Amino acid sequence: TADQLAYARSLFAVTPDFPEPGVFFQDISPVLADPAALRTVAEGLLAPFAGDFDMVAGIEARGFTLAGMIAALTGTGFLPIRKAGKLPAPAGRVEYTLEYGTAVIEAPDVLTPEHRVLIVDDVLATGGTLAASRELIGQLGSQVAGAAVVLEIEALRGREISGEVHALFHS
Ligand code: PRP
Ligand code: MG
Repeated sequence: TADQLAYARSLFAVTPDFPEPGVFFQDISPVLADPAALRTVAEGLLAPFAGDFDMVAGIEARGFTLAGMIAALTGTGFLPIRKAGKLPAPAGRVEYTLEYGTAVIEAPDVLTPEHRVLIVDDVLATGGTLAASRELIGQLGSQVAGAAVVLEIEALRGREISGEVHALFHS
């Protein structure tokens, strides 16, 4: 309900100038720590896609928790999208641009062409991470059923490169 969502939204911890000056760090830890808010957020993320996916991809590190929870709630599988160098034999790899420099994400060899994957993360900022995750799942031959984030930072216009994304909250 709207009240439950508003309650979850009220729990975000905002820290100015972390990890660098000018950045407003939005920490969802207090949301994860609250049983009611955690459930509200997990259910809110998956709601538009219920029945349309059979695998939930969580983006390391902060996407893991919610993706795992959604997989458990829906009886689907979990796929870790990992930062470079963590997997012994990645099946796919995508390099993408960050504000400064580049990053690489990788995925293990567990997807099939039949998998319909819901991508989950905590925050949509510039959109690079989500765009790269879509590309990675496509590279592995599976279908992206959708993408969901807890918080979209609208000023960064990430949606312009991330593709369609369901954002539970906006800032
Ligand atoms: C943050 C956040 C998203 C990503 C969004 O992760 O959790 O995954 O940035 O940024 P973008 O839209 O500009 O690509 P971060 O890389 O800080 O790492 P973490 O999840 O491991 O803390
Ligand atoms: Mg992250």
